[in-house]
Amino acid sequence: MIETVKVEIPTGEIKEYPIIIGENLLKDSGTFIKNHTKAQKVLVVTNKTVYSLYGETVKESLNKESIEYDFFILEDGEKYKNIESLEALWQKALELKLERKDAIIALGGGVTGDLTGFVAATYLRGIDFIQIPTTLLAQVDSSVGGKVAVNHKLGKNLIGAFYQPKLVLSDINTLSTLSVEELKVGLAEVIKYGFIEKSCNLLELNFNFINYLETKKDKIFALDLQTMSELIAYCCKLKARVVKQDEKEAGLRVILNFGHTIGHAVEKCSNYENINHGQAVAIGIKGAFYIAKGKNLIKEDYMNSALNLIDLYGLNYKIPAKISIENLMDAMLLDKKVESKRVRFVLPVNEGEVAIFNDVENSLIESVLKKLY
Ligand SMILES: NC(=O)c1ccc[n+]([C@@H]2O[C@H](COP(=O)([O-])OP(=O)(O)OC[C@H]3O[C@@H](n4cnc5c(N)ncnc54)[C@H](O)[C@@H]3O)[C@@H](O)[C@H]2O)c1
Repeated sequence: MIETVKVEIPTGEIKEYPIIIGENLLKDSGTFIKNHTKAQKVLVVTNKTVYSLYGETVKESLNKESIEYDFFILEDGEKYKNIESLEALWQKALELKLERKDAIIALGGGVTGDLTGFVAATYLRGIDFIQIPTTLLAQVDSSVGGKVAVNHKLGKNLIGAFYQPKLVLSDINTLSTLSVEELKVGLAEVIKYGFIEKSCNLLELNFNFINYLETKKDKIFALDLQTMSELIAYCCKLKARVVKQDEKEAGLRVILNFGHTIGHAVEKCSNYENINHGQAVAIGIKGAFYIAKGKNLIKEDYMNSALNLIDLYGLNYKIPAKISIENLMDAMLLDKKVESKRVRFVLPVNEGEVAIFNDVENSLIESVLKKLY
């Protein structure tokens, strides 16, 4: 079974592109690449872990289609999403004499996708780019919508661009080799979509995602192929709908940061070690619910059902004791998304609905942070 989700972009060179979701797609990746670019030559960027699992399958498929290729194999880890890797990749592309009609392909999780996308955006002022995401987080989030970036020593994702791929190819079978912890990183973002669903304005397809997640947990953890395909496609539809309305995050796209205000601060204060992105986002989502309750935006019942859902998916994490509230507050105020020294929060206002607030009192934020330890 193959599902295709169309991403429409209001401005720019690429007006729309497909996200193709299905089983065992990697073995036909060469054919998909051939059908979506005019590339004579491709550079496939991946990391050691993903290469050892899926490198051969992709190579065989490229051989079958007689596409000339080279692989660039990164070390595994967020710390390699940096300027040194970028330079090494530019160098590789130049040595290969890649031309603008050729293509650069990201095979891996969000780290590989973000870095490779930025290389594609900048090499020769833009070369065709294809995403082959292999983590749940990358399939439901980072491969969709065109944000590409590398980290700078002063902060995460500070050097980046908006650059849309020609194609996203999501092979759900790749999820079978992910660790449960990595699966849960993606699930934190999946749950996020439940809480922002109605605000994405995908009215025609609104299928009460919170309710869906409440009933499908076992199938999701068992990686039931039909459920995963449906779930990934729905998340992509929601994100694509938001991106269509606001590609460059001038307004609505901010809602995708639900749970990320506190989440990013927790990640930053832990130096991106010991606590992963999904855990931090799950803590941030809980925080957003507590703040919303503190501001009387939502009823207690809704807050409790949200906390139960987070619990159901094993995402009931706590802020590590060694991180101080003072450091978290400082991190939030230094975030690149802070405007006029007010921390911006996306908060729940109704079931599946959120709104953006710049007026949350520091005293309320601090009292909520205390509950998250
Ligand atoms: N561009 C965006 O819109 C956006 C959105 C959210 C997150 N991000 C970025 O995404 C990154 C995180 O992405 P991630 O969670 O995918 O991390 P990741 O790319 O580091 O992958 C997580 C781990 O899983 C391994 N892996 C990947 N695929 C695998 C598979 N199929 N089987 C076994 N192991 C596999 C990787 O080698 C890595 O060790 C961060 O850098 C974050 O900033 C970007």
